[in-house]
Amino acid sequence: MRYGYFDDERREYVITQPDTPLPWINYLGCQDYFGLISNTAGGYSFYRDARLRRLTRYRYNNVPLDCGGRYIYVRDDDTGAFWSPSWQPTRSDLEAYVCRHGLGYTTIGSTYKGIEAQARYFVPLHENLEIWQFTLTNRRQGSADLSIFSAVEFCLWDAEDDATNFQRNFNTGEVEVEDGVIYHKTEYRERRRHFAFFGCSEELAGFDTQRDVFLGPYRGWDNPTAVERGRSFNSMAHGWAPVGSHHVKVTLKPTETRDIIFVLGYHENPEEKKFDPPDSQTINKQTVKPVIARYLDETNIDTAFEALCDYWDDLLGILQVETPDVHTNRMVNIWNAYQCMVTFNLSRSASFFESGIGRGIGFRDSNQDLLGSVHMVPRRGRERILDLGATQLETGGAYHQFQPLTGRGNDRIGTGFNDDPLWLILSVVAYLKETGDWAILDEPVVYENQPRTEQSLYEHLQRSLRYTLDRLGPHGLPLIGRADWNDCLNLNTFSDTSGESFQTTTTKDGMIAESVFIAGLFVLAAKELTAIAQWRGLEDEARSYLDAAAKMEAAVLEHAWDGAWFLRAYDDFGRKVGSQECEEGQIFIEPQGFCIMAGIGLQDGLAEKALLAVKERLATPHGIILHQPAYTRYYLHLGEISSYPPGYKENAGIFCQTNPWIMIAEAILGHGDQAHDYYTCINPSAREAISDVHGCEPYVHAQMIAGRAAPTHGEAKNSWLTGTAAWNYVAITQWILGIRPTYGGLQVAPVIPSDWPGFEATRVFRGVTYRISVERAGEGNAVSLTVDGQPIEGNIVPSPQGDQAEVVVEAILG
Ligand code: BGC
Ligand code: NOJ
Repeated sequence: MRYGYFDDERREYVITQPDTPLPWINYLGCQDYFGLISNTAGGYSFYRDARLRRLTRYRYNNVPLDCGGRYIYVRDDDTGAFWSPSWQPTRSDLEAYVCRHGLGYTTIGSTYKGIEAQARYFVPLHENLEIWQFTLTNRRQGSADLSIFSAVEFCLWDAEDDATNFQRNFNTGEVEVEDGVIYHKTEYRERRRHFAFFGCSEELAGFDTQRDVFLGPYRGWDNPTAVERGRSFNSMAHGWAPVGSHHVKVTLKPTETRDIIFVLGYHENPEEKKFDPPDSQTINKQTVKPVIARYLDETNIDTAFEALCDYWDDLLGILQVETPDVHTNRMVNIWNAYQCMVTFNLSRSASFFESGIGRGIGFRDSNQDLLGSVHMVPRRGRERILDLGATQLETGGAYHQFQPLTGRGNDRIGTGFNDDPLWLILSVVAYLKETGDWAILDEPVVYENQPRTEQSLYEHLQRSLRYTLDRLGPHGLPLIGRADWNDCLNLNTFSDTSGESFQTTTTKDGMIAESVFIAGLFVLAAKELTAIAQWRGLEDEARSYLDAAAKMEAAVLEHAWDGAWFLRAYDDFGRKVGSQECEEGQIFIEPQGFCIMAGIGLQDGLAEKALLAVKERLATPHGIILHQPAYTRYYLHLGEISSYPPGYKENAGIFCQTNPWIMIAEAILGHGDQAHDYYTCINPSAREAISDVHGCEPYVHAQMIAGRAAPTHGEAKNSWLTGTAAWNYVAITQWILGIRPTYGGLQVAPVIPSDWPGFEATRVFRGVTYRISVERAGEGNAVSLTVDGQPIEGNIVPSPQGDQAEVVVEAILG
């Protein structure tokens, strides 16, 4: 069952039924000011940090679902009937409800009692504000007298404190109202220099800023007293819960249309210019007023909207493909790339499943997010790499997370996830291959944010590698530490105390439990560092990395091959995890993917065997499961992985991020059909037809789809902010379609399904546009390339000399 459809031409997903299985959300903003918006106008906004600078409130886990948002009420002043054109919060019986989620904007509209209403929400580029462009049209025979009420609930900035510290917070709320603009200024009197504003283009009939006056005692957002009676109270918030609500009266003749604009934003003043007059407590509005005025003017809004569309056109234009498969085209050209940008911007901080007060920016997560976005935003990728590097420790280890507002490592979770440092190598490699900017390796980068500890980024990468080598276990495999990629495989935790965090508790010295996943990751990273050293002419270093990779590979082959697949780990007792000897958890997906990506088992048939085992034991029509059989009870020595009921999350869920590793492995072995089949199983667009089973948005990947052992097999959770976005993008674009940046040029090495006659692609790479056409002439994957009409050796198109802007590449596959 579907709840809407894709409008590929407009790059929108169109939702035609408001009661989707879950709120289906979109993101506004792409730089500093962000918002989440659901298909019924739910969601919230923040400036840079969803925890520390939250502008508006949202009630996670509330009933009804999706509570708090950017609400607009329309009231028929002749009858007193009122409704929300976005369905929530009044949930009236609307006609022609349509929500269009586009790239960086969302429009929601409907018709009710002959009044057509639509709001377009977006954040203009380079601004810390959002626009709600609300359009009303009278479709009745006669004229209509209407009242419009806007409504947002302000958050008192720190979202965690806001939801817990009521003894203080019920007293601190403060606002100002001037020229129809509502200013939220809680704590501005003391140490904050920022405030929020909420303006409206029309003359106001009234306003409200005190929530419980606007709503009335014991009422909800579905039935505010002010709206019911058709008149605001002009309330001023002193403590309690500040809100912003404008009241505008409109009379519309038949067919008449009117636009009303609301602008909600964030503004900072310099410390010495906070107040006007200086000895008062009144906000100095000199610099904010022109900003508000600019965006209450419709012409500027249209220009800003066009600029936003151009921004996305440019980013997505860097890679466009035309294949025989609509789902591939749609995801590669639009949604997967878009999701990569959103995860790059927000890491795992704010979604319907991530409360915005939790995890900051993850070290491992951000390095992987970069793999799917660096071609679109190389400059920002560079900055991110340097920020990440600066949270590394002198040991080569890394803070697991850092706060976006401060850039500092998060002490609460600390360090000791032994895979973390190696991901930095992969992101730097992706950046280098994309840009050819070798100078980044010489950038001085501090350790642990400490001044005067600078060393080159290259040295950081070397330490990343050494970090693993300094921590080898009894079998010569990497010690796992707190956990590796699988945060829930806690082999040193042994927690028997309820509520104790699996992520921060370590009770063992960690000298025994080893990770085969890290071994695979290490071999891959060491080979990449070898290539870097070779390109820089550092032969001795190159040799030492290659030796280290070979040694690790030997350890894997000796101690981590289980007969038909790669083992997952050794536990603290030195026993195997992910082996046929185990009762549960006999085979895991991660080492199969990473060992093969690292090139282990390619020569001796082990890779083929491992992939066969994956297919036989882990693959389902909904995607590939993390491990089998699921753990049916809690195991002290395995930790959080066994805390989940069977089939969910890390306990044998389909953890989508790992599926592309298998797609890549299949592509490396030349299995185009299998690689693309796996891709299709978890492709959200291909799952649109079963939206009632899948549950999450059909336009973006979710972190997890419930596995075979779960009663709700096929149901997705944790959509949007997941490493799945980047890895899927890499798998389909670089390995299946085979368009891969390399140091020496753009590689074209497709491993596509056998029944595809070919495909076309346009790729902008280091400033040159490559127009690529691939044609299948035989069944194999061998490539013959013609570049600008001349046949060339190999499958790497060298960068053109001089200022040639376009290159035509023809590839014959067979
Ligand atoms: C989740 C993991 C996540 C970890 C750290 C666990 O509860 O299952 O997916 O990586 O928390 O936030
Ligand atoms: C989500 C976390 O953000 C990521 O870092 C981790 O690798 C996966 N969960 C798997 O546990």
